[in-house]
Amino acid sequence: MSAGPEEIARAVQRLRAGGLVAFPTETVYGLGAIARDERAVERVFLVKGRPAANPLIVHVSGEEMARTLTTAWSDHASALARAFWPGPLTMVVRRAPSVPAIVAGGGETVAIRCPAHPLTLALIEMVGEGIVGPSANRSGHVSPTSAAHVEDEFGTEIRNGEMMVLDGGACRAGIESTVVSLVGSEATVLRPGVIGASEIASVLGARVGSRSGSESVSDGAMSSPGRMETHYAPRTRAVMLERAEIARVVGDCNVPVALIAITGVGVAGVHRVIEIPRDAIGYASSLYRVLREADASGAGLIVIERPPEGGEDAEIWTAIHDRLRRATTPRA
Ligand code: TXA
Ligand code: MG
Repeated sequence: MSAGPEEIARAVQRLRAGGLVAFPTETVYGLGAIARDERAVERVFLVKGRPAANPLIVHVSGEEMARTLTTAWSDHASALARAFWPGPLTMVVRRAPSVPAIVAGGGETVAIRCPAHPLTLALIEMVGEGIVGPSANRSGHVSPTSAAHVEDEFGTEIRNGEMMVLDGGACRAGIESTVVSLVGSEATVLRPGVIGASEIASVLGARVGSRSGSESVSDGAMSSPGRMETHYAPRTRAVMLERAEIARVVGDCNVPVALIAITGVGVAGVHRVIEIPRDAIGYASSLYRVLREADASGAGLIVIERPPEGGEDAEIWTAIHDRLRRATTPRA
């Protein structure tokens, strides 16, 4: 059930009173607080268990609001906003002094995005200023793509009145926004998402770099901590296998196995088979839901059939593989 105008009004009051409101977006649910309210932002870090050095995205209702958060809104930023907002693109730019340092993990930049969800756009418009929104999950865990997932993460905080959830239905895109830094001499994708580097490059008419590999919190100077190795992870150990390896691994395994498969073909001895769409868009929008379902199935091991790479939707598959790599453990 989608929230109505009364609930939006209640959410606005909550935010203005320094409270936390989980909100829907087209990617995943965010955990909102007014970005200028340092104490509320501190609560966001606390309830998530998020390291203080990992900066938050500020969600805005459009380009005009974005300009108030930065000292350097460039032509490039403007072109990307016009091409992709509202939508799953986050831009990292120089932080204005009005944005508290805590939002930026202590750094000099701020990440900004305008989400494509009518409820949340209305919420931000009514609040009249930017709201932070890390994914509404405990730090390191699978991101939520429905209000029920947020309740699974923060049942206690919701019951004791510390947090409310605006239900906006299931998220369409299903994986987090592309994060692109506009701070250096060339635009650089820090976190892949549904909007690919090549689409960004064609809007900018310039080369777009991309950072691969991973970092850890202990590295100190994190450029985008969503790139930490263990992230988006179910609580149950998960591995990714080629189709041909699955039967042997399941046969050798002495705990119940949940299998996430695109082929729809069952494997003998599997405790639970969860199907996931074969196309990139369908796969991305289902990924976190099926990971949560596998995690809740009572299995001792989650096996994920390796999905395709490359092809027509190569950049979406890149983003999916980025999340899968962080959700799984390499086999020893
Ligand atoms: O789709 C999304 O982006 C969702 C929805 C709710 O908008 N939000 C989200 O937030 O995924 P979070 O906090 O889970 O991930 C934000 C990512 C992290 O990898 C963080 O390190 C990076 O953005 N980030 C935030 N501020 C940054 C900054 N100033 N410089 C570099 N990276 C930054
Ligand atoms: Mg997150």
